[in-house]
Amino acid sequence: MKKMLSGIKPTGRLTLGNYIGAIRNFVNYQDNYELYVFIANMHAITVAQDKTELKKNTKDLIALYLACGLDPNKVTIFLQSDVHEHAELGWIMTCSTYMGELQRMTQYKDKAAKGEIGITAGLFTYPSLMAADILLYDADYVPVGVDQKQHVELTRNLAERFNHRYGDTFTVPEPLIAKVGAKVYSLQDPTKKMSKSEENPKGTIDLLDDPNIAKKKIMSAVTDSIGIVQYDIDTQPGIANLLTILSSLTNESIESITKRYEGKGYGEFKKEVANAVFEFLTNLQKNYVDILKSGLVEQVITEGNMKASKLAAKKLRKVKRKIGFEIF
Ligand code: AMP
Ligand code: TRP
Repeated sequence: MKKMLSGIKPTGRLTLGNYIGAIRNFVNYQDNYELYVFIANMHAITVAQDKTELKKNTKDLIALYLACGLDPNKVTIFLQSDVHEHAELGWIMTCSTYMGELQRMTQYKDKAAKGEIGITAGLFTYPSLMAADILLYDADYVPVGVDQKQHVELTRNLAERFNHRYGDTFTVPEPLIAKVGAKVYSLQDPTKKMSKSEENPKGTIDLLDDPNIAKKKIMSAVTDSIGIVQYDIDTQPGIANLLTILSSLTNESIESITKRYEGKGYGEFKKEVANAVFEFLTNLQKNYVDILKSGLVEQVITEGNMKASKLAAKKLRKVKRKIGFEIF
């Protein structure tokens, strides 16, 4: 079985974008891949975090992974900071990454260009840590949203660089970007990504939003005056976004949906999307509450950490031997 790994930062509340662009794909992959999914809390602290919130977000994220359908019997779910090998290989990777490579990473570049103050060194070097996350487990594939592709490409370069210098050590991973829903956009500004950090709450649907409020957000989503339900991301980004959402939640193809809406207006279409979102959130939140009550979160993480640590330790030993850290 091919290996696959991905992680999400426990910062802020998860959005429908996170579900459609990331978690939903993990659930689909769990039967056909040896899947590792982790909570990227070491990445979270590249930006200052409140302790109480970080703890809550971490627990919530694990519970939401499970509520979305990740099965701990099939997937290894673990907490990054509990597997110390990430920090160790992270440093080794930092030392084989060039400044120029990190300067080209858009996440850093955008912040620097905006003249943001208080950018930490961690935020700058975090793509090297991300490479370590992936390479520790010899992942063949890394399912991520399109915004993370650049980091996986850097990981490939670092893996190849290391293999070239020290001999075959790491699997060179490939990013896996889903076709539909690779990017979900803001409901209020459909040219911008739906994001945890968006200021206008009407633009974002949180997985823990009251389903009735979520319904209203869909009904008031920005569209256009063309009046035809069709997928055209340039001239009708709002409708294209709603089509992506509906198609992702119901598994009906966009083609089939637009066919059903030939000659019909936006009102009816929005209602269907709103109902699909309502139903999805209602089910998800019921699972989430049950999981938090059950004690499953602690059990899953304890077992996952153990499994991940074993693999990571083995890989790190090999790396240390290759670079000359093991002297006896
Ligand atoms: P983040 O919320 O930035 O930590 O991202 C976690 C994962 O969710 C990454 O794989 C992202 O690419 C994905 N993701 C976040 N927001 C969106 C979005 N609006 N559309 C699609 N994928 C997203
Ligand atoms: N950087 C990713 C994000 O911001 C999270 C992440 C950290 C990740 N390590 C990873 C994703 C390894 C995939 C694989 O969303």
